[in-house]
Amino acid sequence: MTNWLAATPSPAAPSGVPAAASPFPDGASLGDPGFQAAHGVRLNYVVGAMVKAIASEPMLEALARRGLLGFFGAGGCTLPRIAEAIDRLQSTLPPTAPWGVNFLHNFVLPAQEEALTDLLLARRVTRIEASAFVQVTPALLRYRLTGLTRAADGQVTARHRLLAKLSRPEVARQFLAPAPAAMVAELAAAGRITPDEARLAAEIPLADDICAEADSGGHTDRRVAFTLVPHIASLRDELAAEHRLRQRVRIGAAGGLGTPQAIAAAFVLGADFVMTGSINQCTPEAGTSDAVKDLLARADLADTDMAPAGDMFEIGAKVQVLRRGTLFPGRAQRLYELYTRHDSLDDIPAATLAEIENRWFGRSIDAVWQETASYYRRAAPQELATAEANPKKRMAMVFRWYFIHTNRLAIDGDPSQRVNFQIHCGPAMGALNRWLKGTPLEDWKQRNVATLAEKLMHGAAETLNDMLRPRGSAPWTPAGGIEFPRAPSF
Ligand SMILES: Cc1cc2nc3c(=O)[nH]c(=O)nc-3n(C[C@H](O)[C@H](O)[C@H](O)COP(=O)(O)O)c2cc1C
Repeated sequence: MTNWLAATPSPAAPSGVPAAASPFPDGASLGDPGFQAAHGVRLNYVVGAMVKAIASEPMLEALARRGLLGFFGAGGCTLPRIAEAIDRLQSTLPPTAPWGVNFLHNFVLPAQEEALTDLLLARRVTRIEASAFVQVTPALLRYRLTGLTRAADGQVTARHRLLAKLSRPEVARQFLAPAPAAMVAELAAAGRITPDEARLAAEIPLADDICAEADSGGHTDRRVAFTLVPHIASLRDELAAEHRLRQRVRIGAAGGLGTPQAIAAAFVLGADFVMTGSINQCTPEAGTSDAVKDLLARADLADTDMAPAGDMFEIGAKVQVLRRGTLFPGRAQRLYELYTRHDSLDDIPAATLAEIENRWFGRSIDAVWQETASYYRRAAPQELATAEANPKKRMAMVFRWYFIHTNRLAIDGDPSQRVNFQIHCGPAMGALNRWLKGTPLEDWKQRNVATLAEKLMHGAAETLNDMLRPRGSAPWTPAGGIEFPRAPSF
């Protein structure tokens, strides 16, 4: 590897420099130690949520048992399914175990956010990963602010920890500042938080941790980590000064992390912690099919593509997906083009509709509409009423069904449906596959999610040690290999 420090010739550096203790004795020495203390974890490494319980209970259990943090993939799950996951995790893990639940912004049905907050508060879940927010919402604030107290040292302490994942500075600003005063006042006036909680809200930032997400698997606006991470960190300092905040928000990095070198680079950029996503979908613990994992394990760096996002179809949001082995990205893009070009399903040429029905949907448009309407009749009758009066909206709902369907097909793993699999994935997957080639972990069945985390973090420490070693000097002591710190015993 290139040693960038060696690029500056130093008269003191040539051979014969005695061995010294390595700057990073292990993966646990990377990042802000406050992250380990706050979350009770061994490494500043987080496994991000993956929709529809792909980030599953077994995944969080495997992580927590090795002292690592992960978030349950609550997106796309019903409330009873989320409750089931919480109940299981609370019964299999001790109360202090590091895990949380994904709190996805729901811009179509805000009532579902409120219901999630009710569930999290009722079940005493103390940690969430908030994502997809453009604007913070009352439901999110209610979760964060409930249980604020002032400790003996005068500091405000939050019972509910909030890690916000985002990719835009204007969103970061909202999470780096205290909760918006007007929204806090409304919550207090409605009796949804106490007057004390409302008062204390002004003294802490809305988030404890912010993960700055660059080009990633799944929903992404493909930011560049090199610019994003340092910028969010400087915004943190700016807003802390402006609001006189004592709590330092930790800034993490996500997107494209699948090798020790990438993780080392994230820490060099100033990250306090890192988060991975794509690579964890290709582990035995992930809640998806073996057929998907087989495809992912063969992916190379350039085997991903952008496709429209089903949940934000009308506004043209994008997801990064696996391209190799599936036709989903092309088909999804075609549906989006038809949607933008036509005002109604009736305007689409009959031959095109027939192809969609026979080869993509595997059923008639009418059958799809019946299924969709029956869901909305229960979940959001007002949405259904609007769609019945608006042919373009009806078309969007029919097309959105394909995105839910293809997600389900991938998770179920019927090989005859492989061309329709929708598999969220970024280039980190291919990078990991290349790194693990020729090792026992080339076989995905050997890729325990916590082992991956440890190998990557310890490898990142070795990478940084290598870079920091002056050219010609002896290896750092202790030479070779890095000991893993002991895992907790639960
Ligand atoms: C299959 C898959 C599903 C995902 N689902 C969610 C989700 O439901 N909620 C969320 O906040 N992030 C989701 N993500 C994003 C990850 O939590 C993580 O932020 C991202 O994958 C990190 O980038 P990387 O894929 O380059 O490692 C998903 C990612 C993947 C690969």
